[in-house]
Amino acid sequence: MALIKPHGGGNLKPLFVMDEAQRADLAKEAMSLPSITVSSAAAGNAVMLGGGYFTPLDGYMTKADALGVAKEMKTASGLFWPTPVLNMVEDAGSIKAGDRIALRDPNVAGNPVLAIQDVTAVESFTDDEMAMMTDKIYRTDDTAHPGVAAFNASGKTCIAGPIKVLNYSYFDKDFEGTFKTAYEIRADMEKLGWSKVVAFQTRNPMHRAHEELCRMAYNDLSCDGILIHMLLGKLKKGDIPADVRDACIRKMVELYFEPNTVLVTGYGFDMLYAGPREAVLHAVFRQNTGCTHLIVGRDHAGVGDYYGGFDAQTIFDDEVPAGSLDIEIYKADHTAYSKKLDKVIMMKDAPEGHTMEDFVLLSGTKVREMLGQGIAPPPEFSRPEVAKILMDYYQSIDK
Ligand code: ADX
Repeated sequence: MALIKPHGGGNLKPLFVMDEAQRADLAKEAMSLPSITVSSAAAGNAVMLGGGYFTPLDGYMTKADALGVAKEMKTASGLFWPTPVLNMVEDAGSIKAGDRIALRDPNVAGNPVLAIQDVTAVESFTDDEMAMMTDKIYRTDDTAHPGVAAFNASGKTCIAGPIKVLNYSYFDKDFEGTFKTAYEIRADMEKLGWSKVVAFQTRNPMHRAHEELCRMAYNDLSCDGILIHMLLGKLKKGDIPADVRDACIRKMVELYFEPNTVLVTGYGFDMLYAGPREAVLHAVFRQNTGCTHLIVGRDHAGVGDYYGGFDAQTIFDDEVPAGSLDIEIYKADHTAYSKKLDKVIMMKDAPEGHTMEDFVLLSGTKVREMLGQGIAPPPEFSRPEVAKILMDYYQSIDK
């Protein structure tokens, strides 16, 4: 069986320039082009576009695209897309439609050129349009929300147009073996002979509930494999850095999953914390990696109390028009270890008479506190080998 088609129904469209000689020519040309250092969000967009994750887009959106996407998840040409993919700047200077410009990377020392853009439009958003976009995408315009803060900090002028991507920023170097493009993941799956694959999005080290969610989805859906796909970009303060998470996840997979059932991979993008809208974006780009299903559990891509626990599931029923996506959602209820049943279960599956006290439930804050003090969370919550990596990390940092 062939892999699921990318979003839009065509072929995967990686904007990374594969031909080495052509890439070298473009890098040389970039030196003589006007250049700007882009925002971290725009750099992440370039990395995603480069790797084919944002198929079928061919670059940064126009203002009309972004407004349409924010309002009704549709670009001006009618393509279903859940979050704007923008190159926003404070001040575009003399850059205008028709220019060819070099985009410099804000996240790598010396700001090397990340991509070349053919500018098709330079347009500004009004304050009302900015507020409308944050309200639709993040469901709030509260500047204390980390996604809203990052969105507002990038400026109000968008530079639209197609791009050619020359490298993958710091991701392929810093996360060698874990960072993968969508075309690499598709190739790996084809080699393994997988066609029914469930993706697990994560920005955390995986505890027992996460592990079991993957196993439940894999078994319930009779999948060929599981794609653990972790975010490798920027997070808010307090979230666990990607290298530590990667080590935890690899240890868990090595010890607790059957060989050749899991691919441990990551993608180069900053966390938006956009909850439901980000879940839909997650679905779009997991379809592009060849996955047929995406696990969406409790407070997926959420932060604080901005979203209801299962808003990231209901958006697929209430707001995503039927037929927009081929990938399906595996909806997971709140999952935890039951002392009574001696296993991890979804709460909806608890038998009558089972109470909240029967579950091993620990808040993130409590777990961080324990790890910082060198106390391992109970094995029902976290695998001891994973807890060890986390304890070492927490004790090595200034808290
Ligand atoms: S996320 O921001 O990347 O979504 P996280 O890594 O915590 O955060 O979650 C990964 C996935 O597991 C998400 O789909 C989330 O909803 C789900 N999840 C995490 N913990 C639980 C839990 N205890 N019960 C149900 N789903 C969960």
